[in-house]
Amino acid sequence: ATAQIGVTGLAVMGSNLARNFARHGHTVALHNRTYAKTKALVDQHGHEGDFVPAETAEDFVASLQKPRRIVIMVKAGEATDAVIDEFTALLEPGDVLIDGGNAHFNDTRRREAALRERGIHFVGAGISGGEEGALNGPSIMPGGSEESYKSLGPLLESIAAKAEDGSPCCTHVGPDGAGHFVKMVHNGIEYADMQLIAEAYDLLRSVAGYEPGRIAGTFREWNQGRLDSYLIEITAEVLAHTDAATGRPFVDVVADEAEQKGTGRWTVQTALDLGVPVSGIGEAVFARSLSGHTGLRAAARGLSGPTAEALTGDEARVFADQVEQALYASKVVSYAQGWNMISRASEEYGWDINLGAMAAIWRGGCIIRAAFLDRIRAAFAADPALPTLLADQGFADEVGRAQEAWRTVVATAVRHGVPTPGFSAALAYYDALRAERLPAALTQAQRDFFGAHTYRRTDRPGSFHTLWSGDRSEQSVD
Ligand code: 6PG
Repeated sequence: ATAQIGVTGLAVMGSNLARNFARHGHTVALHNRTYAKTKALVDQHGHEGDFVPAETAEDFVASLQKPRRIVIMVKAGEATDAVIDEFTALLEPGDVLIDGGNAHFNDTRRREAALRERGIHFVGAGISGGEEGALNGPSIMPGGSEESYKSLGPLLESIAAKAEDGSPCCTHVGPDGAGHFVKMVHNGIEYADMQLIAEAYDLLRSVAGYEPGRIAGTFREWNQGRLDSYLIEITAEVLAHTDAATGRPFVDVVADEAEQKGTGRWTVQTALDLGVPVSGIGEAVFARSLSGHTGLRAAARGLSGPTAEALTGDEARVFADQVEQALYASKVVSYAQGWNMISRASEEYGWDINLGAMAAIWRGGCIIRAAFLDRIRAAFAADPALPTLLADQGFADEVGRAQEAWRTVVATAVRHGVPTPGFSAALAYYDALRAERLPAALTQAQRDFFGAHTYRRTDRPGSFHTLWSGDRSEQSVD
């Protein structure tokens, strides 16, 4: 037995991860359901490092040093369960089975509990960065036992992306499903970021009257400042691209229907269960879903809208700057919501997640990597119990400076009939959080009126009910 790590499931993510391990000097055992893929990997990339190809699961397991460490890279769902069952029969107590797919964290919790009974460590590891990241350095979010991380951590850290300060974009997130949970929220935040960027593009195009090439330039400029991020960078690339077949801007020939594989939807479903408002992610999921309702959209195409003219000259330039501010402020809100969700789940499941560390490992490798994440890391370093990112003085000051522009952008969007659900929901969240009094008082009074659901008072403790259909006197309810 010579291999330090094994990878089973050699589609592109699995192959790239295996090559990344090998390139970092680890001997990597390889296994795939069909041997052809294993062979193709060794034929093409065998020279990159030490690979031990195996035709059978038995040979694969036998080629691994103990405790055995096996990374499963197969489709999330039933395929994962089948592979786990196959390998569990061949493993011994102390071995570590790692699921590197986008599994639902509840599946991971179930699998971890079942394998723990047999003494096997099951690690649900979120891996972000796509194919490129898997090969050259992803951001890795492993859950599972502390003990499993002792033997697995150094291997994962060696292949992970490195942040600017040199630290690996990988840390032990917390027990059982914690790793897959934070990967899910990462994807939710990814959805929100993408939606906000799409709204900024739409406003620059429809309100400021900019062409895609010019918008690419604007995004490139923004990428030099506080919005510096991978998603802004690729946005500029996409917008600058011309379709070879038609000579038109590429963005104009792509069907305007955004798909989703489901992690954003899971984030929102889970947030509803945890009672955490993640309106930015919610609006992003709904916006994708709306875009795909072509029948509904066709039926509504004739509805009337405003007749506002596009801006020109200096007005357009000033507006573009305001859009940058609205985008930044909305982004702060959506990250604040994402972190609230991680914090709430950490309490609920007893994961004890280090909130600042999540920002630290997202600084590199992953899809939402951005300069901004170092600011979030620093905010939690200064106050680990920060209730919301908006309470960090630095972020509060910046959003405070942006808020006038943010309001102008949302109001202008409304006047021009440009949908900005992300910007608008973020601003509504900001205004709701900072409000002295919310109309929730009225909502609660209505509940008491029709359902005797009781209410609390601002001036004394206890629960009360008003006899709405009687003499409207108030009763104290215990
Ligand atoms: C990542 C990505 C990755 C994948 C998403 C896309 O972190 O590397 O998030 O996991 O690209 O699943 O999600 P949708 O298909 O739902 O947009």
